[in-house]
Amino acid sequence: MFSEENLKKLEELKKRYPTNNALTLPALWLAQEQFGWISEDVMRYIANLINVPFNHVYSVASFYTMYNKKPVGKYHIQVCTNISCQLMGSENIIQHLCKKLNITLGNTTPDGKFTISEVECLGACGGAPAMQINDDYYEKLTPEKIDNILLQLK
Ligand code: FES
Repeated sequence: MFSEENLKKLEELKKRYPTNNALTLPALWLAQEQFGWISEDVMRYIANLINVPFNHVYSVASFYTMYNKKPVGKYHIQVCTNISCQLMGSENIIQHLCKKLNITLGNTTPDGKFTISEVECLGACGGAPAMQINDDYYEKLTPEKIDNILLQLK
């Protein structure tokens, strides 16, 4: 169930979107902010809440990589592997992160602190290779920069 605050936010959002189908994206985002990830039960809840078919919510949630379909760690490290980042060494960045955190791509450390994911273009191609950790962007990455960034995350 949405919190009272999110129910109020959803009511405000309804005024800005022409259809309930269009409301699916921000409703899913609110859900992810509240629950941390979007399970099929949450998708059903959203579908009922905004009165759209479950398969519409499911298709939207599964299309966009920004929606987590399984639990993620406290710090969700999303490394871009699209063409600019790939050309600038994103594969090495992923390998370094995986080695440093002792997990494989797509997984979470046993303490629940870090998850490493591969994502599509973050719109930061000029700063390739780039990654996003939660809501923060990091650009022009090197293994040394990664080490410093990880040290700052508690
Ligand atoms: S290709 Fe990586 S941010 Fe665009």
